[in-house]
Amino acid sequence: MKPLVFNNTVLRDGHQSLAATRMTTAQMLPAAAPLDALGFGALETWGGATIDSCLRFLNENPFTRLDQLKAAAPRTPHMMLLRGQNIVQYTSFPDDVVETFVRCSAKHGMDVFRVFDALNDARNLRTAIRSVKAAGKHAQGAICYTTSPVHTPEKLAALADELVAMECDSICIKDMAGLLSPRITYDLVKTIKSRHTLPIVVHSHETAGLALASYMAAIDAGADAVDTSVTPFANGTGQPDTVRMQAALAGHPRETHYDPRALFELRKYFEGVAAELTKFMSPANDRVDSDALCYQVPGGMLSNFRTQLVEMKMADRFNDVMAEVPVVREALGWIPLVTPTSQIVGTQAMLNVKFGRWKNLAQATIDIALGKYGRPPGPIKPEVLALARKQSGQEPVTGRPADLLAPRMPALREELATKKIPPTDENAVLFAMFPRETEAFYHPKAAAPAPVVVTPVAAGNASLNPPPFTGKISRYALTVDERRYETSVEVIN
Ligand code: CO
Repeated sequence: MKPLVFNNTVLRDGHQSLAATRMTTAQMLPAAAPLDALGFGALETWGGATIDSCLRFLNENPFTRLDQLKAAAPRTPHMMLLRGQNIVQYTSFPDDVVETFVRCSAKHGMDVFRVFDALNDARNLRTAIRSVKAAGKHAQGAICYTTSPVHTPEKLAALADELVAMECDSICIKDMAGLLSPRITYDLVKTIKSRHTLPIVVHSHETAGLALASYMAAIDAGADAVDTSVTPFANGTGQPDTVRMQAALAGHPRETHYDPRALFELRKYFEGVAAELTKFMSPANDRVDSDALCYQVPGGMLSNFRTQLVEMKMADRFNDVMAEVPVVREALGWIPLVTPTSQIVGTQAMLNVKFGRWKNLAQATIDIALGKYGRPPGPIKPEVLALARKQSGQEPVTGRPADLLAPRMPALREELATKKIPPTDENAVLFAMFPRETEAFYHPKAAAPAPVVVTPVAAGNASLNPPPFTGKISRYALTVDERRYETSVEVIN
């Protein structure tokens, strides 16, 4: 019987889904070595919204985080979520920026690149996957799962064929909204397995309470790995927790044996971290709620929506806007709802309710209609396409969108130099995606939060001598099997 592995997402999707991506490197480091020792298939430690959050909220250099996590957890492959041509942003970047980002990430220790495109347009994955392969790393092509009249199991499996043709090393069925049912999961895994031999990973969210059951079905169908996390950054809008998933497999021919004592200590440790992050943790994210199924939108999008509607003084129109979401989705060729398309569809649904259907088209709606994000799964509604043409004065793009983008790396390096930011490749790719935040990181205003110095200390390993501390120090510590893992954080004022 083929062994089953769990990947662990607590250091990325776990806190992105449950604590607004606010876990700091200092909070992560004591857990890194115990997580490494557990022997997971991969540790998801980077990518998605974490890079944005490091720069925008945490005053951290994302590449330094990756270096430190890699040093603290060197045995397990590190995994990141990459939005194809969008890298970790909302718009497309030229090929040279995508290539440089992947090369830098690989250089800093990233091993497995899970690459997806919000439209499931394989052309938007090509450059990223080719760059991962060129760096000698593991390219995992992701299929975004969604439900619609045009998303048949055959069509989703056909994307797997394209991923295989692009020489992906594995395939991920990525269910960002927790919509997969056990039977559909089983059929999808079986269909792909009947055509290809490469490993399949299933990634889901417990938002509607279906993930664990769907994982069980995936495992029975021959999936090689599933993604789990650690409570309290698990379940609800996050991945099923590792202990619960392992318990569900008791007696199964492919049951797993991750050390329950270490998992218990990790849980206790992360409870402490969660206590520091309570203001970013909503009780609504914690509960299993079939609302997500009713509206067919990702859980994170629901909570964002409620806030946006209040801001637009439309709080009483929530149900109308929700009812408009599938109308917009259908008009835009039934695009999956995942970053950034979830935001685009949500905004257009609000505009339709507020001003009348298609009376006011957002720029991003026009861009989707004109193919600037790629090829949507189904046809664009002719009425919307005609409006998009008329308002923009442009014709639809039929080729790969990034073919229209000129290389930017030389100009980015020059711009960094004029701003007195070290013109490294790392800084150039960060600056391309987050110009304001990268500049603020290097040239903080007086009011900016103080930088932190993180010194990881893993007692029991070769002694690391931390420098003497002069500022305010806080410590994070975790003990597993009499080994103490500790991080000291010095806040310089
Ligand atoms: Co996810």
